[in-house]
Parts: sequence; C-alpha cells; structure tokens
Amino acid sequence: QNDSSFTFVLFGGTGDLAMRKILPALYEAHKGGMLDESGKIVAVARVAHDKAEYLQWIEEHVRGHVPKSDFDETVWQGFLSRIEYVQLDLSKQGDFVLLRDQLLALPSGIRVFYLATGPSLFVPICRALADVGLNEGARIVLEKPLGYDLASSNAINDAVGEIFAEEQIYRIDHYLGKESVQNLLALRFGNVLFEPLWRREWVESIQITIAEELGVEGRGDFYNQTGALRDMVQNHLLQLLSIVAMEPPHAIESDSVRDEKLRVLRSLKPVQRGDISKVAVRGQYHAGVIRGTHVPAYAAEKGVPPDSSTETFVALKVEIENWRWAGVPFFLRTGKRLADRVAEIVVNFRQVPHPALGNMPAGQNRLVIRLQPNESIRLYCQAKQPGEGWDLAQVHLDLAFDQFFKENRMEAYQRLLLDVINGRLALFVRRDEQEAAWRWVEPILDEWATQNKGPKPYAAGTWGPAAASAMLAQHGTCWLEEE
Ligand code: BG6
Repeated sequence: QNDSSFTFVLFGGTGDLAMRKILPALYEAHKGGMLDESGKIVAVARVAHDKAEYLQWIEEHVRGHVPKSDFDETVWQGFLSRIEYVQLDLSKQGDFVLLRDQLLALPSGIRVFYLATGPSLFVPICRALADVGLNEGARIVLEKPLGYDLASSNAINDAVGEIFAEEQIYRIDHYLGKESVQNLLALRFGNVLFEPLWRREWVESIQITIAEELGVEGRGDFYNQTGALRDMVQNHLLQLLSIVAMEPPHAIESDSVRDEKLRVLRSLKPVQRGDISKVAVRGQYHAGVIRGTHVPAYAAEKGVPPDSSTETFVALKVEIENWRWAGVPFFLRTGKRLADRVAEIVVNFRQVPHPALGNMPAGQNRLVIRLQPNESIRLYCQAKQPGEGWDLAQVHLDLAFDQFFKENRMEAYQRLLLDVINGRLALFVRRDEQEAAWRWVEPILDEWATQNKGPKPYAAGTWGPAAASAMLAQHGTCWLEEE
C-alpha cells in the first residue's frame, strides 16, 4: 500500500469544466511532479464509448487549454497514460457496479470523486456510489453552484451528509484557490503592521470589487436562472469579505480559518426587506463598447429571454455586527461587461485626528490590494510637496508580486485539486459557512423576485448603474475608479 497513491474519479469527464479547468490543472500538477507516480485519473461520462474515444476527445478538446508555454509532448503522453475511462449511465445501477470493479482493479490509495456536473446530479451520484460501497473512506468534491437557495442547498447537503462525513466533503470555491487570495491571509497575519489598524477605530470603509469584462459566454441559459448575486456574491464575494474581516485564526491548516470565517458570516447584519433598495443595487447591461468592440445587450444573448430581469451587476452595502467592525460599511460589487477586468480590495483609513500641518488634501491613507490581474499592493500616504510651504500631496508605495516571485503562479484549480488529493480542507467551504452565506443573501433574492421593478440598466463597458455610485456618495465616499 502506497499512502500517497490516489484514484481521481471525474464525473462529467467530457463537460466544460473538465475541459477548461480540471484536466489542464491535473496536467500541470503531473508536469510539476506533484502527483504520485501510480496515481490514476478515471474519467466518467456517457458520451465516449471507450478509452480510445475518450483519449481522442482529450486530444481535440483539452490539449488546446494547456498554455503553450507549459506544453511538452513527452510530458503530455505521460499524463495521458494515467487516464482510464468508464462509460456510465447514471440511471443504471449496474454501471456503478462496473465502475466499482474497475476501481478495485487499480492500485489502492486515496479515492476522490469529483462531481463536475450540475447540482441536480450530486445526490443521485452520491447515492449510487454508496449503494456499491464506494463512499467508504473516499473524498467527494462538489462544484458550485451548490443549490439555488438556502432550502435547495440544505437539501443537497443533508442528502450528501447522510453518505459522506463532513471531513470527506470538499466544496469548491475557486477564489480560495487563488494565490492572491491566500496572500490576503499572509498580509493580515504574517505582518504586525496592518493588524492593529484593521478595525473600526482606524478604518472608515472597505470596498471589494470583482469586475469582469466578459459577458455570459454562451452560458445564457444557466446564467439567466442564476444572476450575479447567486453566481458571485453568495460565494466568492462573501468568502473574500470573511477573509478580510475575520479574527486571526489559531492555525492555517485546520478548521480554525473556517471557524473564523464563519463567525464573520454569522455577524453580517441581516438585510431588512424594507431597506433593500438602500443597501443593494442590481443592474443589467445593455449594448455598449468594451475596448473598442461593440457588444450586445444581455437580453440579446443566446438563451436569455428579451424581457429577462436577471441581474448581471450587484452592489451592496454590508455591515458586520461585532466590536471590530461596528459602523464600518463594506461595499461589495461585481458585474459582467464592466469597463475592466479587476478584482480589488480597498481599505480606506480615517483622516488624521488633527491637521497639524494645516489643510489636509482630500483623500487619506488607503491600502489597495489587487488580486487580479497583476497581483499588487499599493499603500497611499501623504508627503510634503517640495517647496517653502507645508502643502501635502498623495504618494504611494507599490509592491508588485511578480518582481519578487519569478516562478509561475499555480492556477486555482491546480492548488485545490492537490489539496483534495492531499486531504487539506482549509481552502474548501464548510457546510455551516455555505448555509450562513445563503441565509444572508436570501432576503435580497426574495425581495428582488417579488419587486415589479427590474434591474437598473447600464451600458456595457461602464462601471454599472449610477445608483451604485449614489449609494457610496451617501456615505461620503466613492468607488476607487471615480476618484
Ligand atoms: C465563476 C462564475 O464562479 O467565476 C463565472 O460562475 C465567473 O460567472 C467566474 O466568470 C470568474 O472567475 P475568475 O477566476 O475569472 O475571476
């Protein structure tokens, strides 16, 4: 028995996610020598008949998703030699018996079942695996979206929880796999400089933005039932918020990070239905121009009904009800077809308590943490303008991470897949976190579903509806790009 050997069983083996993310990430891990020699990847799907046909599919669909600079024919062939294939019809229990027999014939070791399928298949697959005894000792990976609301996510978690213990369940939020997001923990808890200032006494407001230039990319059908609040806020943005706001954890590789994130999620001030229009703005893009290219309106995308009221943009004001953060607004924002692709956290510090040098210029100390692209940190400070007087001007200290670290950044999926194989749960979402996030989001979803006014329009290539700026103006602040 080799303890680090593994079998990685990929349901949805011919799906979009397998093609774009999972198989390329496994290739990279293989190339980097991070996978045990004897580890096998068993793809499961319905369409390909046999292994030869599946390998043909990989050649045609996956090869092109590996960055050219990382591609090496010999390494690729070695990677392909790890792959097995099982054709499986989910409705046939007999197919799961065949799957079990094939798995039993492989070297023993960790067994991972990755469900890169729609959430409606999670429970049937888990039950069928349990019926043939494959749940024992295995790890199961669930992709987002995990449900549609609190009730459906609870239903999935309850059913999966009857078959797998919580320590066997790896719920993916790929933002947690990003190097830059992990670096947030390093910034906060690997330095003494920031921590004493990271609280209501010194922080005036915080902004967290995940802006995309892309539209719905052929996923109109799926997206139209989802919308930005479910697609980005319930998971990625609330995870970022909880990392920014959490108390120092006891240790990183344990449940303590997840415990601290949970405390933040449970401290979010519940949104009262009557207040929703004051603290939440939803938008939908119209036609516009992004970097010189004309792009169509959301409602004209394939799979989207012309009268759709699905939001492609959300801005929120969130409050955290605890001693550290009472009264500090956190502004969250995400949208498709915005002016730029950027994920950024802005910490606005308070003004100096007394302007000893005379008039202070507008603006204050501010820390801008750019997660992507081009991870960087910029700290804005005041400096004296050269000359006779005491005029101050804003200057900044910059840290670009690629100047320090020349090695390639691991893709989020690669990191997370390695964590699953190595049994590291810290970067996966625990059930209670997920539940707390749904619980907070749900009143907004409910209110929007019953309101008869739809999302506010914004032109593609802009920063969203004007109401998102007005919301910040009420707090005497503005989004970073409006400075
Ligand atoms: C996914 C969403 O979870 O995250 C997509 O479903 C979105 O709609 C994507 O485009 C953004 O991820 P990234 O890593 O490109 O910022």
